Amino acid sequence: MADPLSIAVIGSGVVGTATGAGFTAKGHRVVFCDVDPERVALLKSRGFDAVHASALVDVRASAYLISVPSPTVDERVDTSYVREAAVAVGRAIVSAKHRPVVVVRSTVPPGTTERIVIPALELASGRRAGRDFGVCMNPEFLRAATAERDFLEPRVIVIGALDEASAEALRRLYTPWGDVPVHVMSLRTAEATKYVANLFNATKISFFNEMHRALRALSAEPESAFEAVALGAEGMWNPRYGTRGGLPYGGICLPKDAVGFLGFARDHGLGHLLPMLRATIHVNDEIAGLVWAEAEPELARAEGRAH
Ligand SMILES: NC(=O)c1ccc[n+]([C@@H]2O[C@H](COP(=O)([O-])OP(=O)(O)OC[C@H]3O[C@@H](n4cnc5c(N)ncnc54)[C@H](O)[C@@H]3O)[C@@H](O)[C@H]2O)c1
Repeated sequence: MADPLSIAVIGSGVVGTATGAGFTAKGHRVVFCDVDPERVALLKSRGFDAVHASALVDVRASAYLISVPSPTVDERVDTSYVREAAVAVGRAIVSAKHRPVVVVRSTVPPGTTERIVIPALELASGRRAGRDFGVCMNPEFLRAATAERDFLEPRVIVIGALDEASAEALRRLYTPWGDVPVHVMSLRTAEATKYVANLFNATKISFFNEMHRALRALSAEPESAFEAVALGAEGMWNPRYGTRGGLPYGGICLPKDAVGFLGFARDHGLGHLLPMLRATIHVNDEIAGLVWAEAEPELARAEGRAH
């Protein structure tokens, strides 16, 4: 059981409900808050403490967790819900006695907490981030279908923090998850981490869809191939594989086989089925070019010294 802390959850949908239910199960005191009266009623019917967003101003908590929507509209992330929630939290902490921590749990582009959330909190509260209240960004990795169980069984806890005291305040909430690795980083790195995780998943799915189409067009059996690949390819069984960043793939097989398979597919009129493979080769060539451009002056200097 945790040292009980009081938590307000602002935005009590999939993520908010799983979060609040999980912290309640671990012994914290949670108040849910939502703009949707039906949501509030539903949470109350489950026995939770829940209030309409208009009553947040009277909610005193050690931590305010923001899990409102951040939809993509016309290819732009709409951060207006997050800003609105930050204003509401700001009003709730105007006279907070103990330094509360405000935590962004919505998925937002890198820099949003610093550029939008902190100014909104400061303006609405008349108080200063870092001095009067802490700020964290704590992305969520749960899956909607298994949200409440996933929240209770995280593989990693990511804490982006304004400062050490903010990180410490959020760590206290997660004390009951003693065996889960906690990664502390900057606010914008935490925001970016969530995108990297989702974009990797999206890329992996698209890659296997691309291979699925190509293999079928070549009269090979994708299902059999993928089952074996899942076991055999190092990128599948070694989670750290390929995650270093900054260096191109090299050696003999990867460059040879990437270009060779694309050429083979083109010869069979199937090049159009492999846009990701083309992009992969292109990205690798670019990285190789950049690495070479950086290394060249150094090599020339070393050569000069050798003469
Ligand atoms: N659903 C997922 O699987 C998942 C996983 C990880 C992260 N996320 C991210 O978490 C965030 C929330 O996603 P979700 O799926 O829980 O959304 P959701 O639509 O299920 O819930 C959001 C809730 O916020 C409420 N709300 C909107 N504005 C509010 C305000 N100003 N004050 C109080 N409540 C307000 C809505 O009424 C709704 O109940 C998004 O940024 C999303 O990208 C979602």
